[in-house]
Amino acid sequence: MTLQEFQHGLDAIDAPRAGQGSSTRAVHGGAQRRKAFSALNTPIVQTATYTFSDTQELIDYMERKTWGDGDDREEYGRYGNPTVSAVERKLAALDGGEDAVLYASGMSAVTSLLLSVLPAGAHIVMTDDCYRRTRQFCQTFLKRLGIETSVVPMGDYAALEASIIPKKTRFIISESPTNPYLRVADLEQIAAIGKRNRVLTMIDSTFATPVNQRPLEWGIDFVVHSATKYLSGHNDLLAGVVVGRADRIQALRDARGVLGGVVDPQNAYLLDRGIKTLGVRVRQQNSSALAVAQFLESHSAIERVWYPGLASHPDHAVASAQMAGYGGVVSFEFAGGLKETSRFIDRLKIPYIAPSLGGVESLIEQPALMSYYEKTSEERLALGIKDNLVRFAIGIEDSADLLADLEQALA
Ligand SMILES: Cc1ncc(COP(=O)(O)O)c(C=O)c1O
Repeated sequence: MTLQEFQHGLDAIDAPRAGQGSSTRAVHGGAQRRKAFSALNTPIVQTATYTFSDTQELIDYMERKTWGDGDDREEYGRYGNPTVSAVERKLAALDGGEDAVLYASGMSAVTSLLLSVLPAGAHIVMTDDCYRRTRQFCQTFLKRLGIETSVVPMGDYAALEASIIPKKTRFIISESPTNPYLRVADLEQIAAIGKRNRVLTMIDSTFATPVNQRPLEWGIDFVVHSATKYLSGHNDLLAGVVVGRADRIQALRDARGVLGGVVDPQNAYLLDRGIKTLGVRVRQQNSSALAVAQFLESHSAIERVWYPGLASHPDHAVASAQMAGYGGVVSFEFAGGLKETSRFIDRLKIPYIAPSLGGVESLIEQPALMSYYEKTSEERLALGIKDNLVRFAIGIEDSADLLADLEQALA
């Protein structure tokens, strides 16, 4: 399938939902026609609890007689909030899912999903190059609950299927693109393996965003995002989301009422506001990242570039077939050791040195000195993290300025 055919396919999938593309969904998705107080924007309902005028109203509420279509439980802030619900509807529309549930962070989304669906003694399969904390949660916290995790190499679908233990494996977890090597999962294959073996599938789609890829439409069961990144887009809040089938998401929402990882209404509002510009931001980031990746690949001071939009990337073919854009993160290996690489980073004037990605500001980091600081060089190498590796999360600055900045720092 060519990229054009894929995009055409997406348009066709969008059509029955209202004929809308991802930017239209980002602006209008989840909004109700009748606005509270006729205000254009979703109000911030800053409350921890809700009142009832008398006992009869309480009983009618408990019997759901007063609930409108699609209403969620809202008698206490941990069960529901209208601002949060509006964002959940928008996120469901964006990913082409039936429903979505919002959490206090991406990690809260991942851990709540796994704690809610996995029975004691279950087994999960995870692809490597996975977000470090997700892997840590599975291999330490879940292990203590008697849940075992097998880690298989990204892109080895035979190994993935072979590691499934009949009647014990409940979940396949992958990310796409991954961090820091931007490996891209073949969603069609993962969904097929899941269905063949009756195992649920989950993709952490944080790096892709629903603008570049919508895993549910390839048959994946759950999509997770750290909404802290591209969805909110301004490096000013933490949030996470799980999107999927309505009955499964309702079960997660009920579990959230117990586990407690709710997002604050103020943050939900900021997220809603951030999502409205997702389409324009991500398309700009896609285009700058491709230009940066091509520039770096042609430069003699760079040993290797990892970007799925380059033909040299191991997953270029699958990314071209299944993604509408290659994303805004470029990883590369500087020709030099730890110190030379740091000196190059220090010469850059536009990107801030910081963890995270997906916001309007470009951020740059040397994973050896950020996420893996406490490890030795040898331990890092065993995890695939080289001293000269750099992760550049492109913001929405002008591409020409980003390229000029790289050029002066490499000169
Ligand atoms: C791919 C991925 N998933 C999940 C997370 C966790 O999200 P949060 O920081 O919002 O808890 C991150 C954070 O960096 C991430 O990069």
